[in-house]
Amino acid sequence: MKLYRLGIITLSDKGAQGLRQDESGDLIEKMLKDQFEIIDRILIPDEKEALKQTLIDWCSTCELILTTGGTGLGVRDITPETTMSIADKEIPGISEGMRMLSIKKTPFGMLSRGVAVQRDKTLIINLPGSPKAVEEILTYLQPILSHALDILTDRKTEH
Ligand code: MTE
Repeated sequence: MKLYRLGIITLSDKGAQGLRQDESGDLIEKMLKDQFEIIDRILIPDEKEALKQTLIDWCSTCELILTTGGTGLGVRDITPETTMSIADKEIPGISEGMRMLSIKKTPFGMLSRGVAVQRDKTLIINLPGSPKAVEEILTYLQPILSHALDILTDRKTEH
């Protein structure tokens, strides 16, 4: 049974102009469709207000929101700070776990600033934009996602 609802947000200026296929969004969908009910998916440019509004809206319908893209050093990369701006709390273990994993996989992992946060009863995680990074990080996170969401949504209070 799929207990939790997932929303997928791809941040890409090129994708939003139709100049690039959303391979990372496709991959997230493929990897998680058996475990989660995917209720929304959107491709937006790297715009702070558009992301902020989408995150706030989707928190009322999704227990998990995954973003992909916009975590790097480009001037237009605003995903992590926009996510932090609407968060109740950061979840340092997940943020740092993703970073350690990424750096172990490739030195370019040092360039991703993605964070994991909680807003009310929703978990939001920023994944980098490349399909390779999405695959590596999601494979790493998959075992803890359900347990994290059980606790976050008060389904499970004991271990
Ligand atoms: N993390 C993992 N696990 N594997 C990767 O291949 N690529 C990196 C990094 N994180 C990578 C990774 C690269 S090349 C960049 S530029 C940054 O994520 C930022 O990506 P983004 O700006 O598309 O979000």
